[in-house]
Amino acid sequence: MARLGKVGVVGAGNMGSGIAQKTAQEGLEVVLVDLEDEFVERGVGMIRKMLEDGVERKIFKPAQVEEILGRIHPTADMNALADCDLVIEAVFEDLNVKKELFAKLNGICKPETVLATNTSSFAVEDLALASGRPRNVIGLHFFYHPAKNRLLEVIPCESSSKEALALGWEYSRRAGKTGIGVVDTPGFAVNRFFVPWLNEATRLLGEGIADAATIDEAAKKAFGIGMGPFLLMNVTGVPIAYHSASTLGEKLGEFYRPSEMLRKQFEDGAKWEIGEQADEAKFDALADRLLGVVFYVAASLEEERVASVSDIDRGAKIGLRWRLGPFEMMNRMGAEKAFATVSALTERHGLKVPAKLAELRETGGTWDIRYVDLETDGPVAYITVNRPEAMNALNPTVASQLAEAFDKADGDENVKSIVLGGAGGKAFVAGADIGFFIKNIKKNTFKNIYDFTKDGHDLLKRISASAKTVFVKMDGLALGGGLELALGAHCIVASEKASMSLPETGIGIYPGLGGMARASRYVGKELAKYLVLTGKMIGAADAHAIGLVEYVVPASEIDEKVRALAREPGRAITKAKKEKSTGGELPAEFEKIEKLFSDDSLGTLLDRENLDTENVLAQGMAKAISYKAPIAVKMANELMDEGFKLTLDEALELELSRLEEIFATEDALEGLKSVVERRRPSYKGA
Ligand SMILES: NC(=O)c1ccc[n+]([C@@H]2O[C@H](COP(=O)([O-])OP(=O)(O)OC[C@H]3O[C@@H](n4cnc5c(N)ncnc54)[C@H](O)[C@@H]3O)[C@@H](O)[C@H]2O)c1
Repeated sequence: MARLGKVGVVGAGNMGSGIAQKTAQEGLEVVLVDLEDEFVERGVGMIRKMLEDGVERKIFKPAQVEEILGRIHPTADMNALADCDLVIEAVFEDLNVKKELFAKLNGICKPETVLATNTSSFAVEDLALASGRPRNVIGLHFFYHPAKNRLLEVIPCESSSKEALALGWEYSRRAGKTGIGVVDTPGFAVNRFFVPWLNEATRLLGEGIADAATIDEAAKKAFGIGMGPFLLMNVTGVPIAYHSASTLGEKLGEFYRPSEMLRKQFEDGAKWEIGEQADEAKFDALADRLLGVVFYVAASLEEERVASVSDIDRGAKIGLRWRLGPFEMMNRMGAEKAFATVSALTERHGLKVPAKLAELRETGGTWDIRYVDLETDGPVAYITVNRPEAMNALNPTVASQLAEAFDKADGDENVKSIVLGGAGGKAFVAGADIGFFIKNIKKNTFKNIYDFTKDGHDLLKRISASAKTVFVKMDGLALGGGLELALGAHCIVASEKASMSLPETGIGIYPGLGGMARASRYVGKELAKYLVLTGKMIGAADAHAIGLVEYVVPASEIDEKVRALAREPGRAITKAKKEKSTGGELPAEFEKIEKLFSDDSLGTLLDRENLDTENVLAQGMAKAISYKAPIAVKMANELMDEGFKLTLDEALELELSRLEEIFATEDALEGLKSVVERRRPSYKGA
């Protein structure tokens, strides 16, 4: 299995320094190389500046800056890359420079080192062939700024071995990136539609259809973005847009070539002039033209199997920060209208509407966007919630795809274990989609909320009752519904970086997906109440100490650990096998918390009347509870008391039974809205 230790980055410019920074931020050792000491120093200077800005914005502590910089080893000596497991090239975009570099790296690096290129316009295969180790070359295409933009295109070329590609994916995960799998083709996935989108804006300007300010505003509205195409080009450089369009045009044909307007602007070496006034009457027509380009290219990418529709959408949402991906936009608009916008374009350019889009228009169907992946490796089925742009939050579509994947794996007689995980390295599952709840509360359609939750309960019961061993790989956040989902499995393997909470009472509701009933059984009613009534976040080590998760391992070992356990599920500690871990072995702090939340003393915390003023812990807990929605706190407390006297199934039914009551409160709407509006809620107790 691929193992990633040390990473090399060649080229300490804009991209290389950012790649080194992000890689070191996530805990990996990095060798950063450039031609001259002063170039490397400049790169390290950029990194330091960004990290220090981060300290000002309270993202990092000063000590962390030194720690991160301590993991970056700057040098002008290429030989320092010899023992790296992965070397990422980010030098000038010049084919000969890159080819020579790859040949040189081949002579320096150990034979198994994988060489990755961050090229934007060359074929990965050309570099693989020039390297002398074609099997160990892949593409890793980052997006500016690589320490902030999470998207990573992971690109095997024709020669790449399975192992080299696996190392690329391991890097993606360990470096906290959202990787999308892309075939080695011009522009890969994202630039293939992003560059024509910029180009179309310049065509619209050249044709005199609207001015730059109007086009920018129309684009902002249609794509849900903060900057329109002209402002973006002014920020990132007109030359990049021009060169990218030229390269695509050379390889893919006339439609992709830079417009006259873009060429002229490039030759003039000027920025775009963007006025202040936008003409709203033109927005719809402009949006249709821009959407037509994106839909045409996205459907072509799908037809050519360059990337999956889901990954293309992720590319747009994560890499470009569009509100929706091209396929989601087409589904919302309907195939009839999407077809019309594309056929207007294909007629203008003498192209053909991609066959699948034409078929969807005939059938009235939608693009099949997957948010859950299922992969089987021998006796182990891996199910991954893959919606990293929303921290893998559950909504009805995701939940039903999850149920479908689980039932398929559960029904496969060759499968012995099932592993549930979340994509993107940041979250396992960060709860349920708040937007879905708000929409249904406002429309008074509580039944939709009930049905969604009930379906979730049914799935969790099937998971718990499965004859296979169901593992959860928790390598990031597990919040609310995400933790409740995890608790339905038999064994949770958490990375040291994982953290979890049941924050519902803070947003006006209670954990209705079995979280109260299950947590009470695994950690005891008292600590379950602590989790639910305070909503406190706990780290993996504490979760393990109180019995919420079964294993904690370093982030770099979680894949291997899960794989090993899942291959021999009989050896794993599972929730069914182990005793509730409370009683005697609890860390001292949790023993105190347990007492505070016992039937005898909880009342004091809740009414805050006879609180011991000397007891700092009790004061803190009472304060935490006081910020929560009072009805939610009361109801959750009652449900846990009643539920604890019942069987698990009865307790689960009980949680469902008061769902409508809690969602109908004013405080529920207030709490849920406060999340979307990023403000503190103000509860009335109504
Ligand atoms: N800028 C972007 O938005 C972006 C996005 C994705 C990919 N890329 C690609 O990333 C690569 C780097 O782009 P950049 O914007 O960081 O360029 P840059 O000019 O800022 O940095 C390139 C660095 O590489 C160094 N270098 C050149 N030849 C070298 C060699 N033989 N050995 C060691 N170092 C060498 C240079 O001294 C320079 O510091 C290019 O291939 C580019 O296409 C750029």
